[in-house]
Amino acid sequence: MAVKITLLPGDGIGTEIMASAAQVLSYVAGKFNMDLSLSEHLIGGASYDAHGTPLTQETLDACYQSEAVLLGAVGGYKWENLEHKMKPEAALLKLRKSLGLFNNVRPAKIYKALIDGSSLKREVLEGTDFVVLRELTGGIYFGEPRGYADKKGWNTMEYTRPEIERIAIQAFEMARLRDKRVMSVDKANVLEVSQFWRKTVAEVHEQYPDIDLKNMYVDNAAMQLVRNPRQFDVIVTSNLFGDILSDIAGMITGSLGMLPSASLGEKYALYEPVHGSAPDIAGQNKANPIAMIDSVAMMFHYTFRNQQAATMITNAIETTLAQGYRTADIFSDGDTLVSTTEMTEKIIANLAL
Ligand code: IPM
Ligand code: MN
Repeated sequence: MAVKITLLPGDGIGTEIMASAAQVLSYVAGKFNMDLSLSEHLIGGASYDAHGTPLTQETLDACYQSEAVLLGAVGGYKWENLEHKMKPEAALLKLRKSLGLFNNVRPAKIYKALIDGSSLKREVLEGTDFVVLRELTGGIYFGEPRGYADKKGWNTMEYTRPEIERIAIQAFEMARLRDKRVMSVDKANVLEVSQFWRKTVAEVHEQYPDIDLKNMYVDNAAMQLVRNPRQFDVIVTSNLFGDILSDIAGMITGSLGMLPSASLGEKYALYEPVHGSAPDIAGQNKANPIAMIDSVAMMFHYTFRNQQAATMITNAIETTLAQGYRTADIFSDGDTLVSTTEMTEKIIANLAL
């Protein structure tokens, strides 16, 4: 039976990088004799323009019926002034919540070929390899009450015990497969919700005596990430803090255009790049498709448990970078500047090796 995958290109560069991802996905699936059934649906601004809502029931149902969802990016200037629930971003949040995708895995690794292109020094970056586990369906993104009026705006940061426990378990399990170190990031010196987070993570830790658990305030973590990123193995944190820290992590790898992510729940999984829809370069065949293609590798790893296919993709990305091909965001003197489609072709050529 064919494996159903829903493709949600979204807005801006989302459509361009999704075309790249779909090509890679089909190619690799073919190599492993996997029968795929890909169906594409609208989300975000594109859906709003066509249907008057950024997320239709039809798109949601397609996701419910799929083994995995691949998403490009949502948002753009055009939709910035819509009311909150009509914004493209609201669709992504609703989708994450509806599919129960509480565990957002955002790995940051250094590509040897890009290390000198980073704004950080080689000595700081070398050997960096950590992953941010961002809680994705709770916290201030979803807390009630929320709103704004003439004289004030407000949101609520809240976490329940089960919400913290399940992401903490994921962090400790992930650490077991890595360097056995978890850094829980919060703002417990100011926020009660963070004090509760810290206490609950410590309680879950009692079941994981083999794992080293430390806590760090988020402001310090932001600083430490650029001061000495090697000190981190697994970072576990709340929705908003994880959003912010993973953008910093993106720059450690050279460009946000390089950072993939997996959003996992009990039943569903969604894969998307960490970066946004980049409306300033949309439609110009300039976007870096690597974060999106690497998200396909994560899909093979987490959903299809096919490590060989995942490694095939990550190796092809590394080889292509080693050959000197660069999209504009990671280009330095002496490199070969390529477009989105050229980068995709080069990566596919290296998959065949
Ligand atoms: C991300 C994005 C989203 C988020 C936006 C587009 C809603 O920044 O996935 O990191 O804040 O979660
Ligand atoms: Mn973000």
